[in-house]
Amino acid sequence: MTSQIDHLLTENRRFAPPAAFAADAVATAALYEEAAADREAFWAHRARELHWHTPFTEVLDWSTPPFAKWFADGELNVAYNCLDRHVEAGDGDRVALLWEGEPGDSRRVTYAELTDEVKRVANVLIGLGVGHGDRVAIYLPMIPEAIAAMLAVARIGAIHSVVFGGFSADSLRTRIDDAGAKIVITADGGYRKGKVSPLKPAVDLALDGRSGAGPQETVEHVLVVRRGGNDVAWTEGRDLWWHDVVPEASAEHEAQPFPAENPLFILYTSGTTGKPKGILHTSGGYLTQAAFTNKVVHDIHPSTDIFWCTADIGWITGHSYVAYGPLANGATQVLYEGTPDTPHPGRWWEIVEKYGVTILYTAPTAIRSFMKIGRKIPRKFDLSSLRLLGSVGEPINPEAWMWYHKIIGGKTAPIVDTWWQTETGAIMVSALPGVTETKPGSAQVPLPGIAIDVVDEDGTHVGNGNGGLLVVTKPWPSMLRGIWGDPERFKETYWDKFEKQGYYFAGDGARLDDDGDVWFLGRVDDVMNVSGHRLSTTEIESALVGNEAVAEAAVVGASDETTGQAVVAFVIVKESYLAEHPIDGLGNTLRLWVGEQIGPIARPRDIYIVGELPKTRSGKIMRRLLRDVAEGREVGDTTTLADTAVMSVISAQVK
Ligand code: PRX
Repeated sequence: MTSQIDHLLTENRRFAPPAAFAADAVATAALYEEAAADREAFWAHRARELHWHTPFTEVLDWSTPPFAKWFADGELNVAYNCLDRHVEAGDGDRVALLWEGEPGDSRRVTYAELTDEVKRVANVLIGLGVGHGDRVAIYLPMIPEAIAAMLAVARIGAIHSVVFGGFSADSLRTRIDDAGAKIVITADGGYRKGKVSPLKPAVDLALDGRSGAGPQETVEHVLVVRRGGNDVAWTEGRDLWWHDVVPEASAEHEAQPFPAENPLFILYTSGTTGKPKGILHTSGGYLTQAAFTNKVVHDIHPSTDIFWCTADIGWITGHSYVAYGPLANGATQVLYEGTPDTPHPGRWWEIVEKYGVTILYTAPTAIRSFMKIGRKIPRKFDLSSLRLLGSVGEPINPEAWMWYHKIIGGKTAPIVDTWWQTETGAIMVSALPGVTETKPGSAQVPLPGIAIDVVDEDGTHVGNGNGGLLVVTKPWPSMLRGIWGDPERFKETYWDKFEKQGYYFAGDGARLDDDGDVWFLGRVDDVMNVSGHRLSTTEIESALVGNEAVAEAAVVGASDETTGQAVVAFVIVKESYLAEHPIDGLGNTLRLWVGEQIGPIARPRDIYIVGELPKTRSGKIMRRLLRDVAEGREVGDTTTLADTAVMSVISAQVK
């Protein structure tokens, strides 16, 4: 980390906004002035760009922090804003989704068609007894039906909980239970890496109950999209095919208004404990900031741009910049089902060329893997349509930034490095394209209307040239409204640390350079960032100790050239297990086990079987020392260990 920071601090390349881009940019420097003059009026102005069935009179209610209310007396319908509004304005024929399946099949869905489909799905859900405030779990591949499902749930004032299709049956079950979902919307399977990856069997497993969980009790129906064509088991009375019920349903559905603070979705994310947190977002403030940031940071010109955010809808990026932001803005976007390298390593660039993508928003991990395979691949395709590039999910190292700039952006497209979180709901820190001079590796400046700081442990501003903790100092429209069912954890996790100042603690380390620009340095807690996916060390540890062979486990995020961080586990195997089983192959068995428990993304890159773990006298595992081992560095200060010899034993075992 130290060498990385030194490296960042010597980065002095600067890129001025290209004049041609600036001339036609949505963002202007005036936005900063407007927000500085009156922050709440600024957000009210942005909110009024949406359609309100009942206009709001109050902007922010912060009378009971940390529970904010934005635009609370206003009423709107999120789906109406993303769909009907554009159709009524005469843009029904504009393409909303340019969908590309992994095998190469494709579909174009216009705003009129998507509106029609969403109305039918809304009617199906109502027919199944889903009403205002009910929870609907969505476990789907990246297909147009996924977007339709989210919007249909929003349209009827219900709450969706999208679960990433790469999560296991157990993870799905935990999330369904926590939210108390009434319906699950899934598919038979979807295409991944050249074959059908089944989804419905995981839903069946989750609902039928395994590992002693017993049958799930809140889910009444499973709505299944046919996509993979794979055989699936069927529970009569519970399961319904989408193609049987949706086309039959009426396409008449009038969107009802709901209060601005009506819950829109729950999205589970990893925290520092084993149990994922259900981050709750509401309607008016969320949509305001998702739409505004998409418009100004991604420079959306709805009638001419082809936007492509490569995130899966299972993550917050897919919520804000696939589902809600672009549709609220009436944009045309690419939706791609599969992996970047199937059936060939140039698949993404082929898609950029095929659809003339103008704006690409992706993660540094993807850029680094393309870098690894070389410029020859993207050079085979015409990428000249690209005029703006975005980065999200983890710090982008200057080398990757420069490669993105030169090889993908043809040295002309500005790059916006956008920092935000599941909790923040939308982009918080980013350059404004056409306005900000960019610096490779720095996310730079808070957006207009957003107030952040970098502070020390006491909450004092660190000053330029110093590092500390990133905080958000004032409430923002798309902020999380809580953790589903756990207000105490919400306070503890984000607000207790700087309670006196009333700051939101993000969990990220950051540094201010001499210009006051922000450089993100990674998490300061037990959260890892693997390929831009958030994973909890403790969650993987509990999965490991759940295996019969494991007595104790410690997991660390070790830096990895491609994935940013990689999961490295140190496990102590039970004597009783060793007495009866060979140790060969156990590492691999445990990797697969973690994959089954959580999902393939959580599988450790390395598993070391060790005799002991480094602990302090109070019994706390010193992950810092294990990280040194995992990264092949000399082990740091061991004086606080209960047994100072343990690290040399571990280092020897790992070698
Ligand atoms: O550590 C930060 C990192 O990703 C975390 C949030 O993860 P998640 O909730 O999954 O949302 C990811 C997509 C918004 C943050 O706490 N992170 C995200 N974007 C950046 C980043 N770190 C550095 N630079 C970024 N641009």
